[in-house]
Amino acid sequence: MARPKIAILISGRGSNMVSLLGAISEGRLNAEAAVVISNIGSAPGLAKAQDRGVETLVISHRQRSREEHDRDIVSQLRRRNVSLVCLAGYMRLLSPHFVSAFENRILNIHPSLLPAFPGMDAQRQAIEHGVKFSGCTVHIVDEHLDHGPIVMQRVVEVFDDDTVETLSARILEHEHLIYPEAVALVLSKGFRLDGRRTFSGDKSSSQVKL
Ligand code: GRF
Repeated sequence: MARPKIAILISGRGSNMVSLLGAISEGRLNAEAAVVISNIGSAPGLAKAQDRGVETLVISHRQRSREEHDRDIVSQLRRRNVSLVCLAGYMRLLSPHFVSAFENRILNIHPSLLPAFPGMDAQRQAIEHGVKFSGCTVHIVDEHLDHGPIVMQRVVEVFDDDTVETLSARILEHEHLIYPEAVALVLSKGFRLDGRRTFSGDKSSSQVKL
C-alpha cells in the first residue's frame, strides 16, 4: 500500500522537520515526505531537507495577501496528493481557505502546554509566569493562533535555575519525540473529534482518516 504523503512547512532552522524526516527514515513513521515548503528563502531548514533528499519549495508571503499566498501553497500540496500537513516552526497564521482545504489535516507543534502561553516566546512566557511545569503540544490547526484541538502533550519540569535557553532546549528534546509520535498515531489510527476533544482508536470508526 502506498504510504501517506506528508508536507512539512517551516520558516526557520527546521529541527522538528529533521525529527520527522528522521522518524520516516528510521521506520518509526510510515509516511512519505512529499515536500518541505518555506515562506522564507533563507530558512536554514531548507538545506537540511535537501540533504535528506526531500523536495523543497520557497513560496514567499511578501507583497501578497494571506489568501493568495495560501492558495499557492494549497495548490502545490494538492498537486502532490498530500494528505497531512505538518507545521514545524512555520511562522504564519493560516487563512480560512487553507484550513478548510485541509480541514483536520494540519498539525502544529507548540512549545508550551496549550492553552497556556500561545504565540511567540512561549518558553519566556512560562518562565516569567513562574509555572513549575511547562511542555509541548501537538494540535490540529484552525484559523486561530495555537488554538485547535489537542492531539498530544508532554510535560517538562521548569527548574529554579532555568533560563529561556535551557528551558527551550529541554522542551525541544521532547518536541522532537512527540511530533513524530503524534503524526504516526494520526496517520495510523485517524481520530474522532468530540467538540475540542480528540480520541484516537480504531481507524474504521474514526471521523478523520488520512
Ligand atoms: C519550535 O519550538 C516549535 O515548537 C515552534 O517553533 C520552534 C521551531 O523550531 N512552533 P524548529 O524550526 O523546528 O527547530
